Amino acid sequence: MENAIEFFELNTGVKMPSVGLGTWQAPPGLVGAAVAAAVKIGYRHIDCAQIYGNEKEIGMVLKKLFENGVIKREELFITSKLWCSDHAPEDVPAAIDRTLKDLQLDYVNLYLIHWPIRIKERSLGFNPENFLELDISSTWKAMEALYDSGKARAIGVSNFSSKKLGDLLQVARVPPAVNQVECHPSWQQSKLREFCKSKGVHLSGYSPLGSPGTTWLKSDVLKHPILNMVAQKLGKTAAQVAIRWGLQMGHSVLPKSTHEERIKENFDVFDWSIPDDLFAKFSEIEQARLVRGNSFIHETPGAYKTVEELWDGEI
Ligand code: A2P
Repeated sequence: MENAIEFFELNTGVKMPSVGLGTWQAPPGLVGAAVAAAVKIGYRHIDCAQIYGNEKEIGMVLKKLFENGVIKREELFITSKLWCSDHAPEDVPAAIDRTLKDLQLDYVNLYLIHWPIRIKERSLGFNPENFLELDISSTWKAMEALYDSGKARAIGVSNFSSKKLGDLLQVARVPPAVNQVECHPSWQQSKLREFCKSKGVHLSGYSPLGSPGTTWLKSDVLKHPILNMVAQKLGKTAAQVAIRWGLQMGHSVLPKSTHEERIKENFDVFDWSIPDDLFAKFSEIEQARLVRGNSFIHETPGAYKTVEELWDGEI
């Protein structure tokens, strides 16, 4: 496959499969079948998080896949994420242990700080009284200990702006391997992409299709005329073109689906490419962040006062 970009090398030297199955909003009852279908189709990368509330079912399915000889643990790249209520250094090892227990694994390939936001232990929502001051360097030290122990083979962050990532790099002994952020043709992350590249941090793209099923996001990413023009010219779907665009931009892509046909469709992106003239058209697409993080904005100490402050102006 001439144009295949099947792996991206992380700063740990490990290779991360370029397309991973997203599991945000993949509910228990459906997520297990989706993971099993994905692995059988050829996915080798599953993107999980404790807060998605579905790691137990994913763990049960992984166990079956291993037991039945469908796949070996070492052939899979599994990511999970530390939730905002587990930022206290003493809570970090307990949080990964919960995730490992649910996933029925000894280690994850990548463990990310889910958001640069801290709320009280065991608190659930982002009510103003739940916020605590972020102390990213102490949380990161606890993440580094997970890396040292081997429970997380790589560590990283999610939803960090260039500024927040730069601040973390100043204090990190183990530099973050990945920054997982919203990324699709209508939010291309040009500034953050350059910054990550200059620091050897791999950018990984969530919501690569613009999360069309998420009603509160009002997403039209897959409906964009440029995307559809390219799709039509290449005889591909808009979703495939969005995913292929991400790969050609050089970032890993994490499309979510709980439908087998779509899971298959979203993986059929390796033996063709978007030619240069059509690829150039993507720079004409107007840019807008979908996931703005409005629930993290409060006057209360610890919360961000504005959306601008959360993203340090990258909005
Ligand atoms: P479903 O899970 O019902 O298949 P993102 O990965 O950007 O968050 O987008 C996920 C959303 O996109 C889900 O609502 C998913 O629906 C839908 N989706 C996934 N793959 C495709 C596809 N190939 N075409 C259209 N919609 C898709």
